[in-house]
Amino acid sequence: MAFNFEYYSPTKVIFGKDTDQQVGEQVAAQNCKKVLIHYGGQSAKKSGLIDRVKASLDAKNIAYVELGGVVPNPHISKVYEGIELCKKEGVDFILAVGGGSVIDSAKAIAYGLAYDGDVWDLFDGKGIAAPGCFPVGVVLTISAAGSETSNSCVITRAEDGKKRSYNDNISRPKFAIMNPELTKTLPDYQTESGCTDIMMHTMERYFTNGGNMEITDALAEGLLRTVIKNAKILHAEPDNYDARAEIMWAGSLAHNDLTGCGNDGGDFVSHLLEHEMGGMFDVTHGAGLAAVWPSWARYVYKNCIDRFVKYAINVMGVANEGTADEIAVKGIEAMEDFYHSIGMPVNFSELGIAPTDAQIREMAESCAQACGGTKGSAMVLNVDDMEKIYQMANK
Ligand code: NZQ
Ligand code: ZN
Repeated sequence: MAFNFEYYSPTKVIFGKDTDQQVGEQVAAQNCKKVLIHYGGQSAKKSGLIDRVKASLDAKNIAYVELGGVVPNPHISKVYEGIELCKKEGVDFILAVGGGSVIDSAKAIAYGLAYDGDVWDLFDGKGIAAPGCFPVGVVLTISAAGSETSNSCVITRAEDGKKRSYNDNISRPKFAIMNPELTKTLPDYQTESGCTDIMMHTMERYFTNGGNMEITDALAEGLLRTVIKNAKILHAEPDNYDARAEIMWAGSLAHNDLTGCGNDGGDFVSHLLEHEMGGMFDVTHGAGLAAVWPSWARYVYKNCIDRFVKYAINVMGVANEGTADEIAVKGIEAMEDFYHSIGMPVNFSELGIAPTDAQIREMAESCAQACGGTKGSAMVLNVDDMEKIYQMANK
């Protein structure tokens, strides 16, 4: 039976070739006084995008300051720097030019500007967003996290390797400019990690034991098949615009809650397991998910067998022959083959990490702590289950 739900996806999407030229117009419509242009390491500067953004703001007489240097698995230290800069400069609109890391850093700055205290409190479960969180806009450069339309924000405190998320609708961006051409400069590993993450956002919502709906499943399965097809195309033809467009739109739809309407909120254990890996080993988020998902799937599938069978047949094209158990396992194996076909890892050694038993226990304890003890819908897992899944992946 479908569960009751609210669907709230207020972000205005401006999608297609050359749409980044509209950034000045979109920011002007926000009636702000001064903008922070926030970006990452070097890609947006090198491609000339930052210069184009500035020219577009100049053309509308919009004042701005800039802050680059956001790293993947973005740090709270950069967020503090952004908050100070925005206060000093009287910034009232944050423009993220980049991917999930830049957008999340922008969201955290926006939270922090309105919050009376240390913004890390939000990520540490000790505070909630204050009303008046500053508005954020996005020029997206990588299809992956879906942060451009999501209510989620993931930040890392590098000092102790804690990577934590905070969700609130108040942080959903006002607009997202999505020009698939901007993603053509991505290294293949980043493109495919992004595709993996996109799929995982919908898979987290698909493998549940509560409230699934036919219409939601149809959207989810169609999205997953589309990403599989186009991820393979991009592995061979990185300049294929149509494939980049399919992936970019899928990235937003996968994480704006559309593919979870009517269910129990999803599973999301794979994400929490990966966040610990990201915090401790600084791995690329999507690749980390690929490395842990097969072990999670083998651990839980019997507890959610109908969904795993449906997935195997409708998404992975497994023949409807044999026992449910055989079909489910074939579906997981087909996922591993797909990951390999796009250069993604399926375990820790392929990911390039080799945690010790003590580190695995530490990650499991931190993960359980982050989710309040237990988590999951395909199967509710505790700290010992999480440790076992990490151990299974550690080969
Ligand atoms: O820093 P630069 O030089 O820009 O390089 C980036 C970075 O190294 C590069 N890049 C981005 N666009 C590019 C490009 N390189 C060439 N050409 C371009 N057009 O790609 C690298 C990765 O960027 P990043 O922003 O980290 O990628 P992604 O979008 O995958 O974001 C990952 C972060 O988002 C979090 C992840 O945990 C991770 O911290 N997530 C956020 C979510 C959310 N807010 O809704 C949900 C996700 O599940 C995820 O947890
Ligand atoms: Zn993700």
